Amino acid sequence: MGERWQAVDDYIAGKLLGADGALAAALVNNGAQGLPPIDVSPAQGKMLFLLAQVAGAKRILEIGTLGGYSTIWLARALPDGGELVTLELETHHALVARENLENAGVSGKVDIRVGPAADSLAAMTGEAPFDFVFIDADEQNNAHYVEEAIRLGRPGTTLIVDNVVREGGVLDAASDDERIIGTRALFDMLSTDARLDATAVQTVGAKKWDGFVLARVR
Ligand code: SAH
Ligand code: DHB
Ligand code: MG
Repeated sequence: MGERWQAVDDYIAGKLLGADGALAAALVNNGAQGLPPIDVSPAQGKMLFLLAQVAGAKRILEIGTLGGYSTIWLARALPDGGELVTLELETHHALVARENLENAGVSGKVDIRVGPAADSLAAMTGEAPFDFVFIDADEQNNAHYVEEAIRLGRPGTTLIVDNVVREGGVLDAASDDERIIGTRALFDMLSTDARLDATAVQTVGAKKWDGFVLARVR
């Protein structure tokens, strides 16, 4: 089915997304500079853009920048004066992202903080609350990132967590893969946490069979 999923994603992109020079250039630059092709898909990027706009987000937090493909989509959703903080472990990824954000004309809205996201998050105190949080980094820490997103958010903050299905891998309770263990810990947390309303939606397409969590801080 994988080819058919890709073909439908191509159909959706052809109908609803249109050509986009800056986003296409970002993917080319990522590949040329050795970044892995694990960005969100075009249709998913536009979904993030739309969700951030539906949420009326003025301050966005992203965990996991890579080359800034999803960052560009999210930064475009911001109104004038809006801000996006994005956290990235790898210096090289952050440098490539900076190039791509500049080329897309959104770098003035984006603050890239380099280092382990847990450290960057711990250092955040006294900032205005984030309206929208996209978590897309090391899945072993996802429950912690959601905890921090609640701390740095407000009632009504929207949370999205990428890669929570992994071709069904989430069902493997005996897995020794830290990412699966981390995703299951996230679901355990969400199943009991009265501070959030949450669901998860499975997806197929250019990024195969996966899914995302959508949650809202109560
Ligand atoms: N959101 C991007 C894709 C992110 S890929 C997009 O859709 O375009 C995941 C990124 O998380 C990688 O760049 C990886 O280096 C980064 N990452 C992994 N562990 C991390 C950590 N502990 N702290 C911050 N970033 C991390
Ligand atoms: C991988 C990571 C991602 O964030 C993603 O969306 C797809 C794949 C990975 O590490 O393989
Ligand atoms: Mg991802």
